[in-house]
Amino acid sequence: AHVDPTALTRLSIDVNHHRPSYNHTAKLSSNNWTFNKTLSNLIRKSILRFFDPERDISILKGTLKPGDIIHYVFDRHSTTNISENLYRLLPTVSPMKNQHHRRCAIVGNSGILLNSSCGPEIDSHDFVIRCNLAPVEEYSRDVGRRTNLVTMNPSVVQRAFMDLVSEEWRDRFLQRLQSLSGSVLWIPAFMAKGGEERVEWALRLILLHTVDVRTAFPSLRLLHAVRGYWLTNNVHIKRPTTGLLMYTMATRFCEEIHLYGFWPFALDPQGKPVKYHYYDTLKYEYTSSSSPHTMPLEFRTLSTLHRQGALRLHTGTCD
Ligand code: CTP
Repeated sequence: AHVDPTALTRLSIDVNHHRPSYNHTAKLSSNNWTFNKTLSNLIRKSILRFFDPERDISILKGTLKPGDIIHYVFDRHSTTNISENLYRLLPTVSPMKNQHHRRCAIVGNSGILLNSSCGPEIDSHDFVIRCNLAPVEEYSRDVGRRTNLVTMNPSVVQRAFMDLVSEEWRDRFLQRLQSLSGSVLWIPAFMAKGGEERVEWALRLILLHTVDVRTAFPSLRLLHAVRGYWLTNNVHIKRPTTGLLMYTMATRFCEEIHLYGFWPFALDPQGKPVKYHYYDTLKYEYTSSSSPHTMPLEFRTLSTLHRQGALRLHTGTCD
């Protein structure tokens, strides 16, 4: 696919000329931010040339049957089978069909959210997207509570719920799922091998307790299409993070997109330490060259789009 050499070409030039040190010192202007509807429409259009988020947000029931073999997106030589449970939980129509929202919030998981008091502001959006089942109750003052769509990498079951080793952890996990009532639970089940059992446990619980969530499983082409879009715009990401995936998809459904909790740096603009996640003790592993992500580059890209008014990055406090 070919992308018009218009505003986005400027974007890529900007992004690639910033030095890495830029991130820690730059102040994102927030007072004089105005929404650039023209650019935002343009971005939506050019993303649509690569894929349609409404379709690729989930595989649909009609396209597969139990027992079908799937090749993992990042581990092409490994395969898995469509289980009965997964088949039962495939949607019959896109969970985002005909959904259009004026203002959306995408909440990343950076510790920059702590003490931000951004909860009420985040909850005031028409549609709220969260990542990896991050907890909200205990942090609602800073991160809000509302959730319309939440992602769940299979690794979350291990990282945040101790692989459901005990009754207590199974209960906690179930409670977290039950608290989602009505929202979309987006599970990238076929990205990398190794998460098969974890996905299956989650699906079994959902079915057993008739948990009120709308499950979605991204199409096998989504990741490559998203990466392709950014590469074409000269943003050389290795593997898009969940946060960038959500932004790229949200352009299809949302008019104004507001990002909170995106800050992949160990220090805040004032030089104070920032936790990697607002809710746990994970460290900044992404800095290692073996990490599949290029978060600082993604952040610079989002900052550029912020300056151009295509999206709004909130990195300060909300009071
Ligand atoms: N994020 C960020 N800065 C951080 C932590 C997270 O900008 N310090 C953003 C990233 O876009 C990330 C999203 O918030 O994808 C959600 O955070 P997390 O759950 O940590 O996602 P990842 O662990 O990166 O999950 P994945 O590997 O699937 O991308």
